[in-house]
Amino acid sequence: MYENYYGLTSKPFQLTPDPSFFFGSKWHKRAMSYLQYGLSQAEGFIVITGDIGTGKTTIANSLLHDMQEGIVAAQIVSPKLSPDELVKMVASKFNVPVKGSTKSDILNDLEAFLMALHNQGKRALLLVDEAQNLPLETIEELRMLSNFQAAGKPLLQSFLLGQEELQPILRAPNMEQFRQRIVASCHLAPLTDVECQGYIEYRMQHAGWDGRALFSTEAYDRIFQFTHGIPRKINALMDRILLFGFLEELETFDEDAVESVIKEVSDEMFLPEKQAQTQAKAKGILDGATEDGQIKDVEYYKTMLTELVDALDNAISHKIKLTRYIDRLLQKKYKTYVRLKSDD
Ligand SMILES: Nc1ncnc2c1ncn2[C@@H]1O[C@H](COP(=O)(O)OP(=O)(O)OP(=O)(O)O)[C@@H](O)[C@H]1O
Ligand SMILES: [Mg+2]
Repeated sequence: MYENYYGLTSKPFQLTPDPSFFFGSKWHKRAMSYLQYGLSQAEGFIVITGDIGTGKTTIANSLLHDMQEGIVAAQIVSPKLSPDELVKMVASKFNVPVKGSTKSDILNDLEAFLMALHNQGKRALLLVDEAQNLPLETIEELRMLSNFQAAGKPLLQSFLLGQEELQPILRAPNMEQFRQRIVASCHLAPLTDVECQGYIEYRMQHAGWDGRALFSTEAYDRIFQFTHGIPRKINALMDRILLFGFLEELETFDEDAVESVIKEVSDEMFLPEKQAQTQAKAKGILDGATEDGQIKDVEYYKTMLTELVDALDNAISHKIKLTRYIDRLLQKKYKTYVRLKSDD
């Protein structure tokens, strides 16, 4: 609708992840490098986590888009699959027939398929998106699938992408065997303010924008403030900003224009209650948390627990350092003792 008005050839802020619009922010580039690294290792699991809308599926699609030769990749977007359903799903993604077969038949056929790939000098990759939905036992089944091997290398490698909830699942005590097979993991953070502007400009340019200044610095600041640098939120807001500009016949956008759109969309985009809380938080009203006896939202407790986990991690690594130091000290003392003893 607004494309012609702003000299664009396509819509710059579609919500569907499109690899051709891939913007390499620091964390997106890092996640891609980890996936590439995982591919080069040809074994082990790579885990990418990130908040809702930060770009996990986009990264998965970009990887599939640029897939090197010799790798046969399949992607599953997992609802809550049981271990048996996972095996069926994986097999059918690789076109291994599953209808009327028992689980052990399917596993045999899958292994035969993977072996045939191996004999052709190829290997298989499974990208599991929305992996936070997988029950523990299904992740365990995934690990079992990585036990199909030839010449000491697994025939099937898997990458897991999921929202933050995936982290506590993988931290569970009985996931140790899986954890030991993770070769790299990375958490996608939202874009910084500088990246947010870069992201908007990149997508606009990719949609045919001629580069003339459209947004004031304050407008960019306000967009970042409202979206917290989360790409999906940026896309949704930017689409409405451009529509607003077209309807109001704006040549450029200042902070007020952005503010008008934010007012319009805030009710549609987010739960009003949450928005009110976020704004209150920004003003420091909720700082100090439960002193007023109020029960806070889930995010508050999640943040608190994450901080607690970080603090415990720090304490543990501190203890490890201290123990190593004491070990070294004891060894030194022991050596001195032995030397003195032999001098006697
Ligand atoms: N690096 C990026 N470059 C270009 N666009 C991006 C990037 N990251 C995210 N986006 C855009 O943001 C939107 C949300 O991305 P995506 O669907 O990949 O997020 P997600 O992390 O998979 O979300 P969810 O947690 O809901 O599954 C998409 O429209 C996508 O095009
Ligand atoms: Mg996704």
